[in-house]
Amino acid sequence: MTIDNIRYDDHAQKLYILDQTLLPNEEKEIELATAEDMYDAIKKLKVRGAPAIGICAAYCIYILSLQIKTQDSAAFCDELEKQAAYLNSSRPTAVNLSWALGRMCNKARRFEDRDIDYIRNQLIFEARAIHGGDIEMCHRISELGLSLVKDGDGILTHCNAGPLATSRYGTALGPILLGTEKGMKFHVYSDETRPLLQGARLTTYELYNAGVDVTLICDNMANTVMKNGWIQAVFVGCDRVAANGDTANKIGTCGVAVLAKHYGIPFYVLGPTSTIDMNCPTGDDIKIEQRDPDEIKTMFYEKPMALPGVKCFNPAFDVTDHELITGIVTQKGICRPPYTESLAALFK
Ligand code: MRU
Repeated sequence: MTIDNIRYDDHAQKLYILDQTLLPNEEKEIELATAEDMYDAIKKLKVRGAPAIGICAAYCIYILSLQIKTQDSAAFCDELEKQAAYLNSSRPTAVNLSWALGRMCNKARRFEDRDIDYIRNQLIFEARAIHGGDIEMCHRISELGLSLVKDGDGILTHCNAGPLATSRYGTALGPILLGTEKGMKFHVYSDETRPLLQGARLTTYELYNAGVDVTLICDNMANTVMKNGWIQAVFVGCDRVAANGDTANKIGTCGVAVLAKHYGIPFYVLGPTSTIDMNCPTGDDIKIEQRDPDEIKTMFYEKPMALPGVKCFNPAFDVTDHELITGIVTQKGICRPPYTESLAALFK
């Protein structure tokens, strides 16, 4: 299944994204032309999912590089780094954003002694390499993840870690989509994922369109489907994995992991190595994004669901303790506990 969630038009030198806030009702591309458009698109989740944010940010830097007027290469790199810092401030938790921006800025600096056209060429090569690399990584993660389940299994997933959140196949949804292409049948339970409903709006949209047997459940029904024996594995994505294996992912993920442990169901995290932050020792060091209370009270409702004065706590992510995670599936292999050793081995 191929969805062009991020599309760079080489001929027109324009960047487009599929506006994910409009899904599943409307499939509409929007152009990201200015730094403000780009910041807004990331902040408002028009483009979302850790790898997709990174890919988009890489193309954004290239587009912004075309708008820099100076002919001085060092000043050009300074300006690029300023723009990257601005984009990086849009969302704090997914490490892929700073990872991709860092790759782009480092590339420019490496060729600081060359002319600006040369640097721009290097930047578009780098953005394409980040994009192409993600497609390959997702495919490998999908193959490895597929080895963990068998035909007919029930799989529960939380939030959206499919093609929309990455490039192709996705991470948590990758094995399901790849297995389906090979003729396997899975029964997927998709948590709706309050408050922004990525599971309802995006995961079921992707799986249903790919012909997968998908059932939408409210977040508070995960216990029931597990207790009924309908779930053989949990697959989730990740926004930042600390060096000890603690994993930040969409709010609610940790609760699913606790339930899975209770019922003896394997809980797998799937993500590329670009989501592993070896500079972050534990989950306590991961900055969790806090979002607007109106997302809980008013968004998606015809009328407010609470009085205006009612306080809301709206963290976008939680951290799942490494002890609750059965395995972390990366493109370089499946890491098992102890994660301090198995994750470090990926980077040797
Ligand atoms: O706030 P979002 O929608 O960007 O959160 C997305 C998630 O939590 C995904 O599970 C994660 O980014 C992995 S996407 C492959």
